Amino acid sequence: MSRADTALVTGASRGIGRALALALARRGHDLALVARTESALAETAAEVRALGRRAETFVADVRDPKAVRAAVEAADQALGGLDVVVANAGVATARWSGKLTYDDCADTIDVNVRGAVATLLAALPGMLARGRGTLVGISSVVAYRGMPKLAAYSGSKAFLSAFLDVLRVDLRKTPVRVVDVRPGYVATDMLGTSRPPGTVEPDAAARRIADGIARARPVVTFPWHLAALLRLLRCLPPALYDRLVG
Ligand SMILES: NC(=O)c1ccc[n+]([C@@H]2O[C@H](COP(=O)([O-])OP(=O)(O)OC[C@H]3O[C@@H](n4cnc5c(N)ncnc54)[C@H](OP(=O)(O)O)[C@@H]3O)[C@@H](O)[C@H]2O)c1
Repeated sequence: MSRADTALVTGASRGIGRALALALARRGHDLALVARTESALAETAAEVRALGRRAETFVADVRDPKAVRAAVEAADQALGGLDVVVANAGVATARWSGKLTYDDCADTIDVNVRGAVATLLAALPGMLARGRGTLVGISSVVAYRGMPKLAAYSGSKAFLSAFLDVLRVDLRKTPVRVVDVRPGYVATDMLGTSRPPGTVEPDAAARRIADGIARARPVVTFPWHLAALLRLLRCLPPALYDRLVG
């Protein structure tokens, strides 16, 4: 029997990560599911298995690089090599900068920056050794230009997108591909009860991301009108940007 494609997704207990795990399972991937909440991971795993694919769960906090490495290595062994690794786990704190605390920023940086870097770098040597693999980071449209009250979150996603940009360039002569995903608003717990115009459902977002992974697109961003607006904002001089967005 030929080996199935495999994927590891962090933050697979809910939201975009859960929906992406299911989208990848529908496309024939066996899954390694990583997050902190064991019961929710077990639910995602049951849904993956109901689609006829293998699912292994790994309870880990991405803020702990040793735990991330152990989970990636165990998943790699259990599934016979990881073809796709998605650094998706993330947190967001919305706060006016005048009230922002160091702790707000530290947690965002620990999860969104250090956690993503730990995940991607734990997977890279195995992909290079096997001669195949796709590294994926779930960034955000705020990587194009920061949004009010999201200083730490915007900074964390700008870091992740710049990091992925350089990984893609550095690895271009290897068989490892790099995909930077920059979604707009997706209807998950992260948004709370707010549903700004252009919000997409997690399943629709997951389909877009899975398509981008299958095609190894360097940047996957949606919905197009929000991404176009943020790209445009990136070109504005600070004085005009402050007046428009502030
Ligand atoms: N929703 C949006 O509008 C939106 C837009 C653009 C980008 N994004 C990005 O998409 C990604 C997923 O967000 P989401 O909207 O699906 O959020 P969510 O529904 O709040 O889910 C976040 C996921 O990350 C996991 N997670 C959080 N902290 C973790 C930690 N320390 N260790 C391991 N796992 C951790 C959570 O699992 P546990 O709590 O079980 O650990 C959960 O599975 C994030 O990187 C986010 O920045 C979201």
